[in-house]
Order: sequence, then structure tokens, then C-alpha cells
Amino acid sequence: MNERVPTLAVSAPGKAFLIGEYAVLEGAPALVTAIDVRATAHVPRSPHDEAPASAVVRCAQERAARYLQARGGDVDEMPVLVETGGFTMGARKLGLGSSAAVTAAVVGFYLAHAGLDPQDPTLRRTALDLAMAAHAEAQGGGGSGADVAAAVLGGTLRFQDGTAERITAPAWLEVGFVDAGAPADTSSFVRRVKASAAEQPAAYRRALGLLREAADTFLEAYGKNGDPKVLLEDIRRATAMHNDGLRQLAAISAAPIMTPALETIVTAAFEAGLAAKPSGAGGGDLVAIFATDRRQLERFGDRLLRDHGYALLTDLRASADGLRLESRLPTRSRLAGFFKLSIEERRRAIAGVTGLPEERLRDLDAGALDVHRANHMIENVIGTLELPLAIATNFQINGRDFLVPMCVEEASVVAAASNAARMIRAGGGFTAHSDPPWMIAQVQLLGPDEGEPTEAVAAKIAAHREELLVLADRAHPRLVQRGGGARDLEVRITDARMIVVHVLVDCRDAMGANLLNTVAETVAPRLETLTGWSAGLRILSNLSDRRCAHVSARIPPDALAGKGFEGAEVVDLIVSASRFAEVDPYRAATHNKGIMNGVDAVVLATGNDWRAMEASAHAYAARDGRYRPLAIWRRGEDGWLEGRMSLPAAVGVVGGATRVHPVCHLALEIMHCRSAGELGQVMAAAGLASNLAALRALATEGIQRGHMSLHARSIALGAGARGDEVERLAQRLVEVGEIKAERAVALLRELRDETSSERRVRGTD
Ligand code: MEV
Repeated sequence: MNERVPTLAVSAPGKAFLIGEYAVLEGAPALVTAIDVRATAHVPRSPHDEAPASAVVRCAQERAARYLQARGGDVDEMPVLVETGGFTMGARKLGLGSSAAVTAAVVGFYLAHAGLDPQDPTLRRTALDLAMAAHAEAQGGGGSGADVAAAVLGGTLRFQDGTAERITAPAWLEVGFVDAGAPADTSSFVRRVKASAAEQPAAYRRALGLLREAADTFLEAYGKNGDPKVLLEDIRRATAMHNDGLRQLAAISAAPIMTPALETIVTAAFEAGLAAKPSGAGGGDLVAIFATDRRQLERFGDRLLRDHGYALLTDLRASADGLRLESRLPTRSRLAGFFKLSIEERRRAIAGVTGLPEERLRDLDAGALDVHRANHMIENVIGTLELPLAIATNFQINGRDFLVPMCVEEASVVAAASNAARMIRAGGGFTAHSDPPWMIAQVQLLGPDEGEPTEAVAAKIAAHREELLVLADRAHPRLVQRGGGARDLEVRITDARMIVVHVLVDCRDAMGANLLNTVAETVAPRLETLTGWSAGLRILSNLSDRRCAHVSARIPPDALAGKGFEGAEVVDLIVSASRFAEVDPYRAATHNKGIMNGVDAVVLATGNDWRAMEASAHAYAARDGRYRPLAIWRRGEDGWLEGRMSLPAAVGVVGGATRVHPVCHLALEIMHCRSAGELGQVMAAAGLASNLAALRALATEGIQRGHMSLHARSIALGAGARGDEVERLAQRLVEVGEIKAERAVALLRELRDETSSERRVRGTD
């Protein structure tokens, strides 16, 4: 565990096609954008980290080595490891061009290792040539190379005949991606389409003609500036043409390029006035959606999820950086034996796997929040209260590893979550996505007993929606600059003469309570003049049901076996435990308490508002009028256990105690979340893992046994046991069945006496 901290890591982004698929293979232009999920090539942390290199890695290594040798460089045998977490949804690979990103990252890594700067524009051109050649060699040719260009150069590129030119994305166009839920088999589609070119040349030419015209129309609009509505019409025309071209290709090649899921998403987008097309070869996962602004895009995402169950992937950012030197390695959370280490050793291990300097972890020493700083946080301060902070291991979410800081006073929560995360990892890890960070600001309006009917007043407010949203945005120009702002307005009649207006605000990476309260107070006077009614309360709603983290997991039965139970039996017992909570609110409350064990511990560790989180979770659990379990479990068709949960996640990675409290700040650094949405996913994963651990224990041997041995360990520590005494004393306490402090002191004395007399007998004293 005592690992050196390696320093060299170079990453390259994934890609998504905006237009030009298939046609680019016949010389038409394409538009491709770099997506900020990254392949990271780095020095292995230790020899057991090394993995056999894949064909793309080998080809990239060889090309880079040959280039460096030709320049008289010394190419040593530096091994490389590549991480591609983020290119997946759970165990399902997204069509984001991971092999091109891996090739680019490995080439960049060796150039950087030789002392060259992979971010230098001239060197990038060299890196591009090397990566193109390596990728073509590893894949046996066939691709356009646009994916490799995006991975090396980054940004948004016009790509034609092997040449990439970086272009600026127009300010009037917002691009998002929806996950249609199926993996795409791009190379087999391309093969089938190429074969159909020979079999039905005329039909093929017609389809390609449409795709080419679509690309030309799209690119022409993309390069213009003007009225966004008019230009979006051109994009709609271009994408509609593209989709027709794909349908024709599907018909002649018999490849399922336009699946029912893709058709549903595309149709919904066109009906909402937006443009949409599959991104990539079709058949699979990503649909590119085009809107004139973020508000329009997120409103569509919100409706799509509710009407059809497809999610806008809020964390997929376009026009990402190309090759980049990274200041830290990708996290590795599988730290076998971590619990056996001393506190110092654990800190060293965390520094080792995160790349954080060991001195940073001194912030975890007692008294890190000094009383003077605390005095500025709340009123009437007389001191601070400390709680244990631990790291839960084994978490993997969408292919990325996370170390999960947890702050909690209850023994067994951290061990249980880590253990369950290991079982979930055996099934490919957690799958997660987040709603956009929409929160609700509420304004209560009270009408006079007599006067205009309530429905008419509500309709008048709704008719002023756009004006009210503009007003709300004026309250927070900086939020708007950061890409957030007011998104939608809802008018609810809650009583005969009471209307409640909701302003839905995208809070980006903040929890948003202050933002929302300001919005409510800003729009209230205008609502009063508009309606003649008077404003009552103006405050956020803590039922954050539009800002959920959605998480699911699949676990192979073998990973659940143990404690005298077969895996399949455990699956059935957990499903039955889930059904208990689904039919009985008394059980549901305890079931959810176990989930909140995991959730709250992360909320607290990161300085977020745990009261808000609790209020929201329980209100959400009762959203249809009956209190229900947040997570449910079923047996899949293949016999695996499947669990899923949606959790309102009103949390931030900026503002509040997240930055003021040094330990919370450090906890966020250890976790390395890129957004508030991702933090919500980690919390939800911690909740689902805690639930799994609790149900598995409850449904098999019962909860007390495991709890007792962990409790015994903490009593043993309290009695003064050190090193291996802790385990031995804990075991004795469990054996005597009396886990109490006085008994622990007495047993420790006995244990030490025995040890010293054994030593005397062996003559080692
Ligand atoms: C204890 O903190 C949590 C549990 O009661 C949860 C549950 O019963 O599911 C074990």
C-alpha cells in the first residue's frame, strides 16, 4: 500500500458526430465535437497495476517509439496503463470513440514522457499523424479518422478527406445528447452498408446523396450568424434529411440503423420544435439534440424523461480540450485490505491513489475547523463538534472509480457500503445519470375573496411565462453566465383563492438555496402587479424532485453468496425484503433509513445541507400520497439481482460549507467529482450500496452479528487495544457476548498478561 506517487498522466477526450456520418467515408464533410469523457494514459502505480496492452495501445506505443527514435530520442521501456472510465453507462459502452481516445492518449503520453508538450499546437499535428496511423493499423482501416482528430485536437472540427479544421461553435446553437439505451455496433453497420453499395448502387447513391446534402446544409447554417430561430430551421431541415438518408441506408443494408428508440426520441424532438439525429452510425445509444438555447434543451430533456423515459446526459460536455496533461491520476477505489491499515497508512494510500500530496491530508487532523472560523459560520459559537471521517472503497460509477468520503457516527455503515460496492462492482459497477440541476423557487399568491376567478388569474400568469423567466434571470447574471438560469414556470392552483407559482431554476454546481430565494423575492412584486393578488411566502421548495440522481446496479448471484446461503437464494430473499418495504410504510421507513445511512454520510462529509437532503428524500418517497421505499430490487431474467433508485439530490460542489470547511473541501478533492450532478450520483450510489448491504444481512444471518463485531472493535479501541490486539479483543468480546467498556478493559488486561507469559515461555521478552 505504500505506493510512490507517479506523476505522468495524459488524457484525450471522446467524440460525437454532429453531422456527416457515412457520407464522410465517401469524401463529404463531417462535423465532430470532442466530448469531455477522457481516456487517461498514465504510469502504472505499481507493478500489479500493469495490464496486457490491447492492439490500439501497442500500435500507439510503437508509432510513438519509432517517431522518438528517429529524432534521436531515448525510448525506454516505460509501461503505460489506460483508464477509460466515463465511456460507459454502467457496464454498457457508449459510442463515444473510446479506441480513438485511447490511441491519442497513449501517443500523447509517450511524447510527454520524452519531454515534449502534447498541448503544443505544432506537436499536436505530429501526434495526430501518429495516432491516425496507429488507429488505422489497429482497426484494420475503415474509419474516417474524425474520431482520432477530435481526440488529439479537441474542440469542434470540420473534417474532410482526412483533414481536420477547428471551428468555433456558434453561440446560437446548444447541443445535447440523449441516451437511447442500446450499444451500437458501428463497424458491422459500416460493413453492411458498404456491401449494399455494391449490391444496390443506385439506392445507395440516393441515400448517400441525401446524407451529403444534409451535411452541407448543416455546415452552412453552423457557420452563419443571424436569427437563431431561422438558423435552427435550417438545422431541422438538415437533420430531417440526414434521418431520411439513414432510413434509406437501413432499408438497403438491413442494418437496424434507425431503431424504434431512436425514432421516438427524434420524433419527440421535432415535435418540440428542436432538431435531432442519431450521433454516429445509428442503431445504438446517442442522439444529438439541437436547440437555440439551454432553456429549450433542458425543457425538452425534462419532458422526454417523463413521457418516454430517455435521459438527456447532462454531464456530456461538447467542444472539450484535446490532448491534455493531467495533474492527477484517475482514481482507483479497489483498495484491498484498506481497513487493516493504520490511519497513517490509510492516508498514505489515499495520497498514493489520488496523487494528492500527503501534506494535504493533514487537514484531517483534529481541530481542522478552528473555532474562529466556526465563529463566522454560525452564531453563539462555543466550540466545534467532531465526527469520524472515513473512506468507502470499491465504488465504480459509469466505469469511473470513486473514493467515497463518509462522515457518520454509526459503526458498520462504511464497511457495509464498501462491501456492497464490491459486490456491485462484480456486476459492472453502478449505472447513473442525473437530471439537470433544476430547483424550484415558490411564490405563494393569495387572492381576495371576491374578484377574478382563480383559473383566469392562473392563466394570466402562465401567459407571462417568458417575461417572468427573463426577470428571474436578471436576479442572477453570473449564474446565467455560468450556463444556468431560469428554465420554466409552473402555475399551480392549490386552494380556492391560493395560487403557487414555481420558477424552475438551473442552479448548475450550487445547491442553490440562496439563488432560489432571491428569484422568488424578485418575481413576487411583478406577480402582485400582474394579478392584483398579494404575495405570501417566497422561498425555495425542498422537494427537489426535478433534480434527481438515478442509479441502478446489477449483481451476479455468486457475488451475493455466503454466510451459508447460495447466491440465488440471497437474490430471492432480497427481492422479498424489497417487496416488504413496497407494501408496508413501517418497513419502508426503516428501509429508507438504511439508504440515508449512506447518503447522509456523504452529504455531511462534503459540507452539504443534510436537512434539505432528508426533507427531500422523504417527501419524494411519499410523492404519490403513500410512503414508499426509495430503492427497489428485482430478480432479472438472467437470475441477477437488479436494484434501482431515484434520489432527489439538492447538493452543490461550490458555495456554502463545501469550501469553507477544510475537511469538506478535502473530501471533495478526494472524491474528484466534476459537477454537482456527479456528486448526487455518488450519494445515490452510497445509498443503494447501504441498502443492499442491509437487506443482504437482514435477509440472511440478521443484522446483529455483523453489527456486534464492528461495535466490539470500536469498544476494544476505546479500552486501549492497539495493533492486532483490536481484532483479538473484539473477538473475545463477541465470544463472551458482553460488549461493554468495563468488560473490554478487564479482557484486555487478561490478553496482555497471556501475551507476556507466552513471550516469557518462548524467551522472547
Ligand atoms: C440501521 O442503521 C439501518 C437498517 O435498519 C436498515 C434496514 O433495516 O434496511 C439496518
